[in-house]
Amino acid sequence: MQTQTLHPDTPPVDIDGIKALVSGDMNAVNQLIQQSLYSEVALINQLGHYIVNSGGKRLRPVLLLLVARHFGYTGDQHINLAAVIEFIHTATLLHDDVVDSSMLRRGQATANQRWGNEASVLVGDFVYSRAFQMMVKTDSMQVLKILSDTTNIIAEGEVQQLLNRHDPETTKASYLEVIRHKTAKLFEAAGRLAAVICERPAAEEEAMASYGRHLGTAFQLIDDALDYNASSETLGKNVGDDLAEGKPTLPLLYAMWHGDEEQSKIIEDAISNGGLGNIEAILQAIESTGAIEYTSRLAHEEADRAIAAIEGMQPSIYLEAMRNLARFAVERDY
Ligand code: IPE
Ligand code: IPE
Ligand code: MG
Ligand code: MG
Ligand code: MG
Repeated sequence: MQTQTLHPDTPPVDIDGIKALVSGDMNAVNQLIQQSLYSEVALINQLGHYIVNSGGKRLRPVLLLLVARHFGYTGDQHINLAAVIEFIHTATLLHDDVVDSSMLRRGQATANQRWGNEASVLVGDFVYSRAFQMMVKTDSMQVLKILSDTTNIIAEGEVQQLLNRHDPETTKASYLEVIRHKTAKLFEAAGRLAAVICERPAAEEEAMASYGRHLGTAFQLIDDALDYNASSETLGKNVGDDLAEGKPTLPLLYAMWHGDEEQSKIIEDAISNGGLGNIEAILQAIESTGAIEYTSRLAHEEADRAIAAIEGMQPSIYLEAMRNLARFAVERDY
């Protein structure tokens, strides 16, 4: 598969520079993550450390920390909540790789590949419920409400996606709702929670939530494009997983909608039946219809909305980093 550079003219976003702004906090988050995985059950430690030490991008905690720092937060709950958000993300990944039958994540064998589906699901449950034990420590009903609503909606999104699987009639609206639920909600929660612990007024809380929601939507649009357009080596995941599962993501739907009759038929069959049998013809259809460019354009619109949501706020280096983070979400290749 060919890797395309979608934006050859823009300089790459300095993601390390963004992370460096909150590196002290992030070290504390990572320490808390390690500590909080502790269990007397050996497999939990083993599998848990395997996934958290495998080099995830940590974008959700970074987002939360940037918002908290932007508001000049002086407490310590941001560390706890950033770890909670990453734990929820980690648990969803453990479950996701089982549901998606994925074999590669973060450049190494998935936990389900190494320890089996049962262990992945159950340790995922452990990580999930550990996140809830941690969030209770904030002693804030508001925080608990945000996170319990968020995780519930993520689960709904995943179930809706399961229903859309093998359904070539899936609409753009249904696709967008799935990604807002399964992915954008957690980014939204990260932005909202940081505003909440900083006791900011409702309008600012909404602005940060909206920033997270749009960034998260952009992020998943690109994830779905990368599943057709990246190299597995750079991505750290196997490309083509979505096609193999008959998952009607936007790049595939767009190519089906805009391809010629033969292309449309091949894609319809691929969604209905799954499998990589016709991958070459499908990649060709994706290429000739401009499906990746279309998906990327939508992602850029979402990133622009994220940036617009925080317009007019008091300038800070953290707010500037948030703008760059939105750009990174759509310009990344991993
Ligand atoms: C993967 O998220 C799951 C999606 C929502 C697309 P990330 O791409 O943030 O995963 P890591 O944590 O960096 O591995
Ligand atoms: C991730 O969607 C959704 C989650 C919230 C876990 P994907 O299934 O596309 O994520 P990857 O590509 O496996 O990371
Ligand atoms: Mg997956
Ligand atoms: Mg999935
Ligand atoms: Mg994906």
